Amino acid sequence: MNKIAVIGGGQIGEALVSGLVAAGREPSSIIVTNRSEKRGQELADAYGVHTTNDNQQAIDEASVVFLCVKPVGIHSILHEISEALESNDDTVVVSLAAGVTLASMEEAAPAGQPIVRVMPNTPMLVGKGMSACAPGRYVSEAQMELVTKLLQAVGQVAVVEESDMDAVTALAGSAPAYYFLLTEALVDAGVQLGLKRSLATTLASAAASGAGALLDAESPDPARLRQAVTSPAGTTAAALRELEESGLRGAIYRAAEKCAQRSAELGGLG
Ligand SMILES: NC(=O)c1ccc[n+]([C@@H]2O[C@H](COP(=O)([O-])OP(=O)(O)OC[C@H]3O[C@@H](n4cnc5c(N)ncnc54)[C@H](OP(=O)(O)O)[C@@H]3O)[C@@H](O)[C@H]2O)c1
Repeated sequence: MNKIAVIGGGQIGEALVSGLVAAGREPSSIIVTNRSEKRGQELADAYGVHTTNDNQQAIDEASVVFLCVKPVGIHSILHEISEALESNDDTVVVSLAAGVTLASMEEAAPAGQPIVRVMPNTPMLVGKGMSACAPGRYVSEAQMELVTKLLQAVGQVAVVEESDMDAVTALAGSAPAYYFLLTEALVDAGVQLGLKRSLATTLASAAASGAGALLDAESPDPARLRQAVTSPAGTTAAALRELEESGLRGAIYRAAEKCAQRSAELGGLG
């Protein structure tokens, strides 16, 4: 079985490890690194994986190295593990860091290093993630297949061009926050209508998760699903008209545009 190294067992690193183990991957084939030994022990106890604070040792003979540290730490980790990468055959590095470009990582890594850039999102924590992957120029088809298969343990995977990453961030990486904001606003609206906050929270959250489940189809059709709850001259139609007149659709266009712009700015700093 391929050895997998996860550098950085924080939120995203743990989500990945937990998904891989739940999907049947042998825990002893996974090694996770952290600087804090306490965190390493927690992950070892929870998932039965190997842990260490030695990044070079962790990637020895690994087929796939997931980089799950903060964006600011990616280049220094690549420098740190360069020697070990050079002595490995056929290792693919997979960065889950927001905004860090393939070109900058390829420059920090040994010449010809296969690298995949991934934009994940937090529903990965419950196996419902959306990971968009852009392969670097040295990645083979077999490596891309392996990376896709591993990421499918924590949700859906789409292969994209790196030039689409800023738009992908607007539609997947950051998008869970839009739905949380909408749910939060609906809770407040419920309280304003006289419901207890706890009941309003249950109702609004269940509606969001139920709507999400209906969208969780092979070919989701959000317009058809919306029409199915919109009877002529009914309650939903009245609410939707108010949302449209308040400019919800335009606000979403502008929010996505700002998000993609900010992603491009952050990438330029990387
Ligand atoms: N969370 C999100 O919503 C989200 C969404 C999309 C993308 N991402 C990307 O995912 C990456 C990880 O984010 P996160 O939220 O999981 O961050 P996090 O919870 O802070 O995890 C980062 C982990 O890396 C470890 N670490 C830091 N430096 C290290 C080093 N030199 N060697 C080994 N381990 C090291 C830290 O532990 P120690 O301090 O113990 O070393 C920590 O456990 C980021 O690049 C982020 O852009 C996150």
